[in-house]
Amino acid sequence: MQETIMDRIRAKAKTLKRRVCLTESDDLRNIQAARKIADMEYAIPVLVGEIATIEKIAKENNVKLSGIEIVDIPTFPKMDEYVQFLVELRKDKGMDEKTARETLKDSCFFSATMVVRKDAHGYVSGGGNPKGYNHNTGQKIKPALQLFKTAKGIKTASTFFMMQLPDPKWGFQGTLFYADCALVINPTAEQLAEIAVCTARSFKNFTGEEAKVGMISCSTKGSAKDPIIDKVVEATKLAQNMAPELLIDGELQFDSAVIPWIAEKKAPNSKVAGHCNVLVFPDLNCGNSMYKATERLAGATAIGPITQGLRRPFNDVSRGCSVDDIVDVTAVTTICEWTE
Ligand SMILES: CC(C)(COP(=O)(O)OP(=O)(O)OC[C@H]1O[C@@H](n2cnc3c(N)ncnc32)[C@H](O)[C@@H]1OP(=O)(O)O)[C@@H](O)C(=O)NCCC(=O)NCCS
Repeated sequence: MQETIMDRIRAKAKTLKRRVCLTESDDLRNIQAARKIADMEYAIPVLVGEIATIEKIAKENNVKLSGIEIVDIPTFPKMDEYVQFLVELRKDKGMDEKTARETLKDSCFFSATMVVRKDAHGYVSGGGNPKGYNHNTGQKIKPALQLFKTAKGIKTASTFFMMQLPDPKWGFQGTLFYADCALVINPTAEQLAEIAVCTARSFKNFTGEEAKVGMISCSTKGSAKDPIIDKVVEATKLAQNMAPELLIDGELQFDSAVIPWIAEKKAPNSKVAGHCNVLVFPDLNCGNSMYKATERLAGATAIGPITQGLRRPFNDVSRGCSVDDIVDVTAVTTICEWTE
């Protein structure tokens, strides 16, 4: 059977051996995921929370903790250092010592601080325990947005999905990248351009191949006119100017982007039409629906949302996730590179 993108990610993760924090550490799924991550050597898992609780849950469920790091927030030896760091970083936003100490009791903020202090590579927030750490998406990502900051030249963090399709003819060995499907609700043309550039770079990082980015619209190369289309046209120009070395084109309808014979008719001069491996959608109404439609109707596996555009890696896994979802997203997180 042909190698899938997840096979490739798992194999690369094993060679990197990076430390990844798991924030919902009193949720059994995270403890079981940490066990699997340590056994498979995808990363060095760090359960962030309270050691007594973690050990109790592990014991009750026969999960061995060898090879898993545990950070006990209440007794963390570098807490004063972290507090000072947070005060310094966020004093303009009213962060004082008392607030910093309180903020660091939260496992997501604590993990984000660990990452910024270079004590871990990234953090994964997956699942949740209704009686303990039970962050919603906003609570999971806010520490990353506030502490990591965006990468050089990027103002807006966004997300992408790797859509692994049953037919290997699509994209990279059957995988297309879709963005943004989960974070930036209604991007401006500038934000859409950044999403295109970030997703092209993510594609290269994850596959090793050149991205061919299609800026998706209900129009192909002027076939229809409307302000909603103008946004995509403008975003295409901005993205091409921002990163002239990348192959980005638009506006393209979905079929013009991925079907060669339609591209030949509708966008004959495009360097990417008909062969796009990255599809950038105009807003979340479209992006979110497209990933769900592809998953449900085309039998694709959706890997994501994977955060991009930040200087350090963070990824969110939904509260209804499985142990394997946390394991896979942790492997993905180790591949996301640091940028300055
Ligand atoms: C991510 C999200 C929770 C942020 O919420 P928010 O109310 O904008 O948060 P705030 O305004 O308090 O911003 C928090 C910080 O993050 C920053 N920020 C927010 N969105 C950002 C982005 N996309 N990129 C970079 N920074 C961002 C803000 O600038 C702010 O930084 P600061 O505290 O240093 O000034 C919000 O954008 C959101 O809910 N997105 C959509 C997710 C969603 O509903 N998806 C549904 C489909 S799956």
